[in-house]
Amino acid sequence: MKRYDFDQRINREHTSSVKWGLTKKIFGVSDVLPMWVADMDFLPPTEVTEALQARLEHGIYGYTYISSSTTNTVKQWMKQRNKWEIDESWVLYSPGVVPSIAIAIEAFTSPGDTVMLQSPVYTPFFEMIEKNDRKVMNAPLHLKNDRYEIDFEAFERQLQKGVQLFLLCNPHNPSGRVWTKEELEKIGELCAQYNCLILSDEIHSDLILKPHEHTPIASLDEKYRDITITCIAPTKTFNLAGLQASSVIIPNKKLRQAFESVQAKQGFFSLSTFGIIGMEAAYRYGETWLEEFLAYIQENIETVKSYIHESIPGISVIEPEAGYLIWLDCRNLQFSDEEIKDRLLKKGKVALEPGPKYGPGGEGFVRMNIGCPKDTVLEGLARLRQAFE
Ligand SMILES: Cc1ncc(COP(=O)(O)O)c(C=O)c1O
Repeated sequence: MKRYDFDQRINREHTSSVKWGLTKKIFGVSDVLPMWVADMDFLPPTEVTEALQARLEHGIYGYTYISSSTTNTVKQWMKQRNKWEIDESWVLYSPGVVPSIAIAIEAFTSPGDTVMLQSPVYTPFFEMIEKNDRKVMNAPLHLKNDRYEIDFEAFERQLQKGVQLFLLCNPHNPSGRVWTKEELEKIGELCAQYNCLILSDEIHSDLILKPHEHTPIASLDEKYRDITITCIAPTKTFNLAGLQASSVIIPNKKLRQAFESVQAKQGFFSLSTFGIIGMEAAYRYGETWLEEFLAYIQENIETVKSYIHESIPGISVIEPEAGYLIWLDCRNLQFSDEEIKDRLLKKGKVALEPGPKYGPGGEGFVRMNIGCPKDTVLEGLARLRQAFE
């Protein structure tokens, strides 16, 4: 019997939710269904709420440190989900993966250096490189038969030009592609050969859909492990983004010390009391919720695929191998990005992430967030259809 009811629709208005409260600011309209920023409209595992409530009731929220019990849950989680045995000493913490990317850029590169990414990709990858006065080197992904692939020759050519750090998104946002062991081995080999460090953003790695499997690149070989900074978080997995808690796994001592030293310069000391409690409870007790959630998301994906296939044939669905974000190829509709945006907001009354935000290769695409009850997904699909009628 199922324990969780993901069909329940919960009103998130007036909770300072970015998705529900900032749509007007970001899109210029307010009467639209928000299906953009990547959080979900679901309650987290009951045990997380109970752990937070228990701590809330204590009533004193003074300086809090991260105990070895929390680090042990991170270690256990990696072992049980990804078969990666890590040492507790490798684990650092950060309020978020994006702040960790910024710290890594500062710790491992200098102004003017080059940091590589693979577009289309999560917007802050570009922003963190540019805001920190580094240069973006792009090794774009290629869409073949509705699946993204890496052009390893082009990847190597870019590395040959001199790249200090590569930002890997595994699984990939926005497409939901889960990189295979073979692909990761090629990435690891090439980066090791050209002395390029890897920041592997694995924030979506708990959200793998069957039959795919996640491989932390650092778990494959000591050679890659030594050059990799792995970022994970319970926030995307369990819908806890407002708690702001993530961990950074850095097996190489020198790299870890360099990362910690930038954190120390910034005065970083610990996560918030509730971030720590939420992270530990989610990793310790959240697996049942996660399995039920993934089954629910798989159904939502099927709903999107069949609806679009039958009713909006001009759109192709890039089927995600992980996560609750769906990358929709609207190029056959023959509208400009401006027209797509306008139609979605004004005719369809639905807010999706515009593809060009993800850099070259994002033109003509939109990203739809289906981390919501099926009724909301159906409402969003009807609006999508209306937009392009
Ligand atoms: C690939 C990726 N990295 C990082 C983040 C955000 O991480 P955080 O909220 O921990 O900074 C997201 C959120 O959507 C994401 O998709």
